[in-house]
Amino acid sequence: MWGVVRSLVRPAPVDGVGSLVEVAPAAGVREVFRRFWPDARPFRRWLWLSLVLVVITPLVDTGAVLLFRVLVDRVLVPRDFSAFPLVAAAFVVVTVLVGALAFAGQYLGAWIGEHFLHRMRTRVFAHLHTLSVSFFDRRRLGDLLSRLTGDVAAIENVVLSGVVGIVANVVRIVVFAAALFVLDWRLALASLIAVPAFWATARVFARRIKIASQEVRARAGSIAVVAEESLGNATLIQAYGREGAELARFGAQSMGSVHAELAATRVGALFSPLVDLIHVLGILTILGVGIWELAAGHISLGALLAFLVFLAQMYQPVQGLGSLSTSLFGAAAAAERIIELLDEHPTVTAPAHPVALGRPQGALRLEHVSFTYPDTTTPVLTDINLTVAPGQTTAIVGASGAGKTTLLKLLLRFYDPTAGTITLDGTDLREADPGHLRAAIAIVLQETLLLDGTIAENILAGRPDATHEQLLTAAHAADAHEFITALPEGYHTRVGQRGRLLSGGERQRIAIARAMIRDAPLLLLDEPTASLDAQATQRVLTPLRRLITGRTTIVISHNLLTVTDADQIIYLHHGRITETGTHAQLLANNHHYAYLYHLHHPPTLASTATPSAGNGAVT
Ligand SMILES: Nc1ncnc2c1ncn2[C@@H]1O[C@H](COP(=O)(O)OP(=O)(O)OP(=O)(O)O)[C@@H](O)[C@H]1O
Ligand SMILES: [Mg+2]
Repeated sequence: MWGVVRSLVRPAPVDGVGSLVEVAPAAGVREVFRRFWPDARPFRRWLWLSLVLVVITPLVDTGAVLLFRVLVDRVLVPRDFSAFPLVAAAFVVVTVLVGALAFAGQYLGAWIGEHFLHRMRTRVFAHLHTLSVSFFDRRRLGDLLSRLTGDVAAIENVVLSGVVGIVANVVRIVVFAAALFVLDWRLALASLIAVPAFWATARVFARRIKIASQEVRARAGSIAVVAEESLGNATLIQAYGREGAELARFGAQSMGSVHAELAATRVGALFSPLVDLIHVLGILTILGVGIWELAAGHISLGALLAFLVFLAQMYQPVQGLGSLSTSLFGAAAAAERIIELLDEHPTVTAPAHPVALGRPQGALRLEHVSFTYPDTTTPVLTDINLTVAPGQTTAIVGASGAGKTTLLKLLLRFYDPTAGTITLDGTDLREADPGHLRAAIAIVLQETLLLDGTIAENILAGRPDATHEQLLTAAHAADAHEFITALPEGYHTRVGQRGRLLSGGERQRIAIARAMIRDAPLLLLDEPTASLDAQATQRVLTPLRRLITGRTTIVISHNLLTVTDADQIIYLHHGRITETGTHAQLLANNHHYAYLYHLHHPPTLASTATPSAGNGAVT
């Protein structure tokens, strides 16, 4: 028989499709408790109340069973009607009481549970936003969403429902067991036989169930990952006719979930029938002893029937404890996925006593800065030395993959340099609060980041407390006012997810308005015109120049349109600065920069420049 059982509770077959999401490291139910019990603190008073209900309810149940005994021994056996009305009235009272207690218990349980859940969800969400950008580079969004919505609920199952459930069942078992011993201690002893067999079964199953639940949670995460990646890129997928491949990818993960769920169900569903079997065997034994006791006149018929009813009632909490322990282990598997998230710490943190930046002048200095991305070995930036005077514009030029965007990430302190220092107005960025630093910076990127809200909301994201006049001024300066007011709902037009309802040039002008309204002393532009055609680029250049005026600006540009009038230009080659100077100086150098420039501005004369080293590849 155990052979069959073992084959039934084997982990899910994987069909060659690995889960996209790793199983979180194991942590026991006790660890889940240690971590999250403090979160239940505000609800402790209510928890006590629900525990009181939990204790009262079985006592009332016991009253009902004892009434049943009175009914048999005083009314049914003597066939005497006179006592019946009183017994009947008592039954009605007890039933109403049981109902009221059940309602109060359920509602209170749900109230505590939901509020706890809200607290946990918001806590995990807030924690995710404290994590550094490097965390989001590594993690898959779908899996995070699945943890935030699904797995958080598991903690409630362990910490609140689990506790209340265990206490409720234990109290019921104790009360009913006491009643059994009061009714007939010999029968009560006989009924204890089933207990060890029950615990042995529970122990065997607990581990299996936990493994199966871990797989189920990981599979749920995988489905969310594929769905998020796939639906988030619907345009790309449809344009390249990849629907079939995506469906296959989704189907494989979905099927993996089917196998995992089935494996978990096999384990869970096998558990109850086994417990049932043990239970029936126990009852039959007791019935045998009971008939003998009845014949010997040690017990009345009413007491024997009441005994059997108690025993039947006891079965439910015993089985409840069993299924609770299995769901508890399942929930622990999910809670581990939350613990794993909460154990992630931001790699970029504010020092204990950050140096106040105020409104910085904007003097930037990079000294011997080198950088390697975490978990990689090749340095992306090597020994960068750069000085930017306040109000000046520095252009960064270089081939794709040279490390230009990475340099901006260091300035925003999304990462800290592996070696060397970056200072702003003489303060090492590590000594400042990253929040204060970023408040002094406005950005416009190649891929415009728009939130799914109205145009006004997107511009005001740059400075939430700006007035309506400031909003209009920024939109005018960004040459965006005209197209915005031409839209049916003007500033209150929704831009769609990631701004999909607007054209690339319109999105970019909104991004410029947002940077404009922020009015930050530092401005970082990462190829702000790269995704635009020549005409749209021309429309964006004027507002961009307005934005740059008077701010310390670092601009990355491929097509060199915003570059030629920069105060200094640096050329990055494989993460090293190979050329520094003004446009005229670099042209005179006749090296990479000159080559790049002539690519974009083909010379009319036959003065073609070729690079003397490397291959200034341009995308
Ligand atoms: N999060 C990351 N983790 C690991 N490596 C990364 C990460 N981001 C970028 N890289 C690597 O760092 C190198 C420089 O990337 P970066 O984005 O800075 O290039 P870039 O000069 O901005 O290129 P482009 O002009 O194409 O935007 C690339 O080789 C890239 O593979
Ligand atoms: Mg880049």
